[in-house]
Amino acid sequence: MSVLRVEAVEVRFGGVTALGGVDLQADAGRVTGLIGPNGAGKTTLFNVITGLQTPTAGRVYLDEQDVTHKKPHQRARLRVARTFQRLEVFGSLTTRENIMVAAEACQSWSNDNENPKVVTEEIIDRVGLRDVAESPVDALSTGLARLVELGRSMATRPRLLLLDEPGSGLDNNETDGLARILVELAGEGMAVLLVEHDMELVMRVCSEIFVLDFGRLIARGNPTEIQADEAVHAAYLGTEDDAKDTALEQVEEAVL
Ligand SMILES: Nc1ncnc2c1ncn2[C@@H]1O[C@H](COP(=O)(O)OP(=O)(O)OP(=O)(O)O)[C@@H](O)[C@H]1O
Ligand SMILES: [Mg+2]
Repeated sequence: MSVLRVEAVEVRFGGVTALGGVDLQADAGRVTGLIGPNGAGKTTLFNVITGLQTPTAGRVYLDEQDVTHKKPHQRARLRVARTFQRLEVFGSLTTRENIMVAAEACQSWSNDNENPKVVTEEIIDRVGLRDVAESPVDALSTGLARLVELGRSMATRPRLLLLDEPGSGLDNNETDGLARILVELAGEGMAVLLVEHDMELVMRVCSEIFVLDFGRLIARGNPTEIQADEAVHAAYLGTEDDAKDTALEQVEEAVL
C-alpha cells in the first residue's frame, strides 16, 4: 500500500493546464523522485498533495484515505510535511527555535509522548546544525537555512516528506549530508518525495523517478530507465535553456 497515491490530478489556471491527469505514488521506505523542466508542474503537484491547491479534477489518497478535500493542517496531522522551493523559515528565530516550534506543534496534536526538547536536539545533531543551533536563521547561508527547514519538517515526524529543491544553495558537503539523511529517513520507513534539479543527487538517492513535462507525466522508472528514456531526453533537450542541457548531462554522468 502506498503512503501517497495521486490519481488523475488536473490543475488549470485560466488557460494554462499546470497538471493534466497526473498519476503518481510514493511508498514507504524509499525516496521517490519528481523531476522535469521549469514550469513542468512539480511545485503545483506538491501544493495539491499538501492541500494548498485544490485540483480541478482527480484525487489524492494518504494511506488509501481520500484527502482531496481535507485542509492543509488536517493533512499535516496525518503526518505529511514539506519544505518549500522558496525557503520558508522563521528568520528571526534561531535554528533550535525553528525546529522546536514544529516539535511542539506535533506534540500538541499527536499522542506519542515524545519530549519536543529531546526531538529538537536529536534533529539538530542529525542534520548537522549543532554549530549554528543558537544562530538566527537570517544570519545563515542559504544551504544551512535549507537544512533548518528540513530539520523543522522532520520534527513533525512525517510519514510522507515532500522536499521542493532541498539541494538548491547547498555546497558539496551539505549535499552529501542531505543525500545521507534522505537515504536514512527512507531506511527508517518514511516515504520521501523529492523534487530536485540536481540530477546527480536525484540519481544517487531515488529508487523510482517520475518525470513531468508541461503538466503531463512523460516517464516513470528507476534511474537507469529514466536516463535511457527518449521522452525525457526530448523534454530536457527541447529547450534553449543551458541549465536544462546541463541537467541532462548530469543525468547521463550520474548513471554512466
Ligand atoms: N498560482 C498560479 N497561477 C497561474 N499559473 C500558475 C500558478 N502557479 C503555477 N502556475 C503555472 O503552472 C505551471 C507549473 O508551475 P510550477 O511552479 O508547478 O512548475 P515547477 O515544475 O515547480 O517549475 P520550477 O522547476 O521552475 O520550480 C507554470 O506554467 C506556471 O507558470
Ligand atoms: Mg517548482
